[in-house]
Amino acid sequence: MKITISVLKADVGGLVGHSTMHPDIMKDAGSALEKKKDDGFLIDYRVLHCGDDLELIMTHTHGTDFEGIHQMCWDIFSDCADKAREIGLYGAGQDLLADAFAGNIKGMGPGVAEMEFEERPSEPILIFMADKTSPGAWNLPLFKIFADPMCNPGLILDPKIHDGFTFDVLDLKNNKNIKFNMPEDMYDSLVFIGSTEDYGIRAIYRKKDNEIAAVASTQRLAMMAGRYIGKDDPVMICRSQNGFPSVGEITEPFTHPHLVTGWMRGSHIGPIMPVSFEDAQCVRFDGPPRVICAGFQVKDGNLVGPVDMFDDPAFDNARQTANDVADYLRRHGPFEPHRLSLGDMEYTTLPIVMEKVKDRFKSID
Ligand code: F6R
Ligand code: MG
Ligand code: MG
Repeated sequence: MKITISVLKADVGGLVGHSTMHPDIMKDAGSALEKKKDDGFLIDYRVLHCGDDLELIMTHTHGTDFEGIHQMCWDIFSDCADKAREIGLYGAGQDLLADAFAGNIKGMGPGVAEMEFEERPSEPILIFMADKTSPGAWNLPLFKIFADPMCNPGLILDPKIHDGFTFDVLDLKNNKNIKFNMPEDMYDSLVFIGSTEDYGIRAIYRKKDNEIAAVASTQRLAMMAGRYIGKDDPVMICRSQNGFPSVGEITEPFTHPHLVTGWMRGSHIGPIMPVSFEDAQCVRFDGPPRVICAGFQVKDGNLVGPVDMFDDPAFDNARQTANDVADYLRRHGPFEPHRLSLGDMEYTTLPIVMEKVKDRFKSID
């Protein structure tokens, strides 16, 4: 049976400030999706949050980029933003950039990751959701999962994935894409995917049969709005086991809380901390950036789960390292590289402040 998994997310309003989500918002989103399940439009759904982002996880048979699914999510996000205004939450409707829905939700603010596949007899999937960071945050873990035998022994040991994977990489600033075959294009690919503000991995396919293995949201809010309006807190979906990397090979990169852009005012680098659903609230310096992972078995499109994958003491050291790195970086205050370079601050509020003093610069011969 061919099913589609759609994960759509938006910041519709925060409690308190940008830290987390009000339970009533999640309830409303859940009731709206329940109706669509009763109508048979959806097979199944779950509502989660990571920090101040509302995460809608849905299964259906309508394929990716289906207008009806996008319209439904836009309506739910809009209603939730209205509710957020009513309750008095912060930044209600923050990620809803358009006034009305126009066919496809991409480019309108919310983040989207969708994949369609023929369901295997047993279909384990992992959905990652992050707050206070940007789509490039997935580049390093995706590289380790799908191209680095130092992280993923399956690339060496398992004949089903030994041929490698194809990375579809998006040039985030120029809206172009390029495909790299791993491992043969590895060195070329790293020129680009190592540059996480400019290039984002948007999908990964198993090379020998082009079967979809992973998808990530690659929307950049600042680029769409032309100004800073919060970061593009990303999501991604990975298929797992029996022809794909195992659950442990997919979660292993998150034992290293790598540095990502985002955090306070979307203007800093900081460690991404893997946390349980319960700890997905961003308080310290509006962060540090968080990632949660929801694990499911999919059966006839039904979502069995979620399992809160990072609710595991084996990630305690990563959390401790993230806290130590956060302490160390914070001591730099407003100095680079903790604060982003001027080029990366182009879409923030910094240029407005720079404008104020520009006439005081005098040329020196
Ligand atoms: C980062 C983020 C927060 C805000 C900060 C200022 O993604 O959401 O760090 O940028 O709290 O928020 P405003 O401008 O809404 O006062
Ligand atoms: Mg927010
Ligand atoms: Mg957010």
